[in-house]
Amino acid sequence: MRTPSNNPFLPGSDRVPEIWAGRAPEIADFRDVLRPRRVSGLYERGRAVLGEFGIGKSALINRIAADAAVLGDWVPARVRVAVDADVFDLVGRSLQDFLESRRTDARVGRSADGLLRRIEEVRLPAGGVRIRAGQPQPNAYRTLLDVIVEMATMAGEEGRLLLIRVDEVQNIGRPGPLSQLLTVFGDALEATRHRRDVAGIDREDALPLAIYLSGLPDFHRHAAESGATFSRRFRTAELEPLSDMDLREALSPFTGDGWRILTDDGTARVVMDTGVVEDVIGRSLGDPFLFQLAGEGAWNAGTGTVITREEGDRGWQTVRREVERYVQSRLDGLTDLQMEVLTAAAGLGAAERTGSAVAQAVGRTGSAQIASTTRALDVEHQIIRRQAGRITFRSPAVEAFLAGSWP
Ligand SMILES: Nc1ncnc2c1ncn2[C@@H]1O[C@H](COP(=O)(O)OP(=O)(O)O)[C@@H](O)[C@H]1O
Ligand SMILES: [Mg+2]
Repeated sequence: MRTPSNNPFLPGSDRVPEIWAGRAPEIADFRDVLRPRRVSGLYERGRAVLGEFGIGKSALINRIAADAAVLGDWVPARVRVAVDADVFDLVGRSLQDFLESRRTDARVGRSADGLLRRIEEVRLPAGGVRIRAGQPQPNAYRTLLDVIVEMATMAGEEGRLLLIRVDEVQNIGRPGPLSQLLTVFGDALEATRHRRDVAGIDREDALPLAIYLSGLPDFHRHAAESGATFSRRFRTAELEPLSDMDLREALSPFTGDGWRILTDDGTARVVMDTGVVEDVIGRSLGDPFLFQLAGEGAWNAGTGTVITREEGDRGWQTVRREVERYVQSRLDGLTDLQMEVLTAAAGLGAAERTGSAVAQAVGRTGSAQIASTTRALDVEHQIIRRQAGRITFRSPAVEAFLAGSWP
């Protein structure tokens, strides 16, 4: 019946999860604002989706891309930047693969050869290294810009959008490659094409082009430091933990008609016993990865069509170590003092968590004595926020872990 093979929960994958929760504003932003505006020739900024690892950036941009693909938009494969990778080469390859896949398409076919040849100029020589490692050739900038503009124009002739995604942007080399890439993207977003409208008026339309960047929160700082026009050309959304309501909604099939699975003797429906939904939500702490883990564990702990509370508990025990390792990994690399300050902060109630109370808890006389530490934990490590003298944790999972109040 219920087996790992028909488990709809899927932790740690870039695939769009079957059990989807929340992110309605970001999805609506694409569907109702970004896409319609761009397709009708209006300017709209690029989007940067930033947040801690595991918060759901890749899943979100992949979900948006999947929605776009259903509408027939041009959606080259997501570019995923590894440390030290040549980002021009990666973007070039993604566009190239997309064009190859559209070669049989009459409209694309005519221009494809020329474009493919031009992309070769952007890409690294086979097996080679650029003359100065990490620095695109001077004409790579121009070529990549031309290729994006031309592809967006062709997509526009079909009434479609060209959607480019670059993930793990914090890994793009700095300052050179990052500032060059942001300049290319900024210029492509600003590019226009001439059109005479039905009333005979000449217009300069923006291209049907959407660009999504995603990565860790401190990318914002890197981008600003690269001196590029990032903050003007991209609108940044920082992903927050999912709300309990989002998670409850995502699990609603399990409290309603049941989640449909195929079995040897037809279809069956899997439901969750009373309490299981709230248990899973409590264990997730708003973290989508933990949500998928808790759900996966509960599903795999039994085989019947009803997921019982006992199975939920047992499932959580089996994934528990992995959960701890996952949360712990966010604290890796912190100094002893930083850990001491964090633990002290987590030990205080949210209302009492002021700079001076935390300072006192670690044996200092005033908040000034831990100011550089809290600053680093906020700006560099993005674990806390300092607002109006108070300290809050960005991740409820990290907070619970440090406070020892882990579900
Ligand atoms: N909106 C969501 N609803 C349900 N599960 C999600 C959602 N977003 C992400 N996940 C799950 O959480 C995990 C981490 O998501 P991912 O997108 O890889 O995070 P990030 O890219 O921020 O590191 C994945 O297993 C993914 O399936
Ligand atoms: Mg990711």
